[in-house]
Amino acid sequence: MRFDPWNPDFVAYPYGAYAELRRDAPVSYFEPTGQWLISRHADVNALLRDRRLGRSYLHVATHEEFGRPEEPAFQEPFWRVTRAGMLDVEPPVHTRLRRLVSKAFTPRMVESLRPRVRAIAEGLVGAFVEKGGGDLIAEVAEPLPVTVIAEMLGVPEADRHLLRPWSADICRMYELNPSVESQHVAAKAAAEFAAYLADLARERAVRPGDDLISALAAIEELTEDELIGTCVLLLNAGHEATVNVTGNGWWSLFRNPAELVRLREDRSLLPTAVEELMRWDTPLQMFERWVLEDIEVHGVEIPRGTEVALLFGSANRDETVFDDPDRLDVGRPDNPHISFGAGIHFCLGAPLARIELIESFGALLERAPKLELVSEPEWKPGYVIRGLKSLDLTTG
Ligand code: HEM
Repeated sequence: MRFDPWNPDFVAYPYGAYAELRRDAPVSYFEPTGQWLISRHADVNALLRDRRLGRSYLHVATHEEFGRPEEPAFQEPFWRVTRAGMLDVEPPVHTRLRRLVSKAFTPRMVESLRPRVRAIAEGLVGAFVEKGGGDLIAEVAEPLPVTVIAEMLGVPEADRHLLRPWSADICRMYELNPSVESQHVAAKAAAEFAAYLADLARERAVRPGDDLISALAAIEELTEDELIGTCVLLLNAGHEATVNVTGNGWWSLFRNPAELVRLREDRSLLPTAVEELMRWDTPLQMFERWVLEDIEVHGVEIPRGTEVALLFGSANRDETVFDDPDRLDVGRPDNPHISFGAGIHFCLGAPLARIELIESFGALLERAPKLELVSEPEWKPGYVIRGLKSLDLTTG
């Protein structure tokens, strides 16, 4: 099977195609998206850190100069929100935006949240066990990170059900060649989300609470667009991948029962197990970068104005970096996976994500020792953000 991100069979198992790319064509042009696919760990890692590439080009060139069409007017709400957050800007704006929120995400700050994360995880898992199981995605994987990040920002409980659908709709724009329908859905969600946050931020500016939106609303140097872009980014990035690591991770354990037994018998392996589950089946299969100055990779000239697609899922299975890379090893001692990225955009939420995952996997291992799969899960159609539709389990 070749690299074919619109083919459900490829989405279900991209690793065979990746191995061929790494071996035969580590830099390979992919006509349908006009991107260069980069499949080896060393190259993905190096290009993420290379300042001749960027998440955006608009700080150095216009769409026309990069040979790109102007964006249709209806997409404006999506781009407005996206380009106001740190993930889609480059220094110096990136440096300023990241500095403003990074205090809230230091390992020490986040460690202080652990008791609350644990309590939420135990509550959700307790309810799941009481009813004998159900869909792990809807009942545990989603509500845990959504509740944690919503509490951090100060989104009222009654409004939290809005966050998942907005995020899912916005994320449709991150898939390769999104359909016109997806573009409309994403723009509508971005407009609604931005309007909602603008109201909330205005309210908190007047009556501040002990939350991140109030803290951000009090920062004068932050424009309203930047404030909204930052909140949307934190709320979306703050749960989307964690949901899928939980789902993909449990599905990985069920596909490797000996490793599940090993983890059940020795829960001190949880920290390495979480890293390994993130490596073995990462939910973020690919990230893109614009080439801002001509580069050369393995003798292939990649000119300014083109785009590279960094295949994280492939980098994580690179045989030159990981011993026996297709094997799931919950005790893997040396695990430089790339699932949190690298360089200036390295995941700001990594320490928080690790706590959430350790607490939710830990609570399930402890409270549901007989957890079992009811039916084989199906993958959602997305490739870039790759996760399960549902994961039906019984607690025995
Ligand atoms: C296991 C779960 C997670 C994974 C796999 C993950 C992965 C990533 C990756 C790969 C990037 C870099 C993208 C790039 O370089 O193009 C990133 C950036 C980011 N992530 Fe995460 N993330 C996770 C959880 C979280 C959480 C819980 C937060 C909480 C706030 C978060 C917030 C962010 C932010 C704000 C950025 C942008 C950083 C920047 O541009 O400087 N992430 N994440």
